[in-house]
Amino acid sequence: MKVFNLFPLTVLQNKINIAEDERTILVNEIKKMQSQKVEISKSSYAWTGDTNGYEFLFSNSLFKNLSKKISSVILEYLNLLEINTNHLDIYYQRSWATYTQNEQSINFHTHSQSNISFAYYLLKPEKSGGIIFRSNELQNEIAKNIFTNSKLEKSLINKANPYNSDRSMFDLDQDSIIVFPSKTPHATVPNKSNEPRISISGDISIMLKDSKGFEHLMPNFSNWTKF
Ligand SMILES: [Fe+2]
Repeated sequence: MKVFNLFPLTVLQNKINIAEDERTILVNEIKKMQSQKVEISKSSYAWTGDTNGYEFLFSNSLFKNLSKKISSVILEYLNLLEINTNHLDIYYQRSWATYTQNEQSINFHTHSQSNISFAYYLLKPEKSGGIIFRSNELQNEIAKNIFTNSKLEKSLINKANPYNSDRSMFDLDQDSIIVFPSKTPHATVPNKSNEPRISISGDISIMLKDSKGFEHLMPNFSNWTKF
């Protein structure tokens, strides 16, 4: 028997090594941003820099070295998809830190305004929670909702496996980076470590250097006309 898994969602994982003194500097910088929030009540939702006025982290020179290393991983992802980057201008559209304290998490969401997104774990204690990806279109769903949890509980489905699951969890080590299409719904698992987890996330936009003859990809914004 042969089994073919067609039309995959491709998530790339790699490792980025930074010096420990650099990590300390970046962590302290993020803690400074995070401490400026006005805490009304203890939230179950992690602090995310993108919604707290820190959505351009990579314009901070302290993050220059890290952003360069992340850029090469993004290029690896584009190469994996056989996208010829010679035709593209590639931008960090947004970049921010997330700061997740004990029991906090982030609900399912997408970054639909961009093309590629990533998460890099700058500080990732054990049991501080992974990332979950979800599919909105289960290719193998031969009957509506046949693979939901309740069907598993009622033993209609023997066990969850990659063919019948609509979600997949990655619990990666510190210094791991994960890259995925921005449109993919994702969430984080609650932090159970009693120590903060810090990740750095970013959204990448790609556009054509020269849009002549191309219909679909974004034309270069240097050619746009402002109202
Ligand atoms: Fe996200």
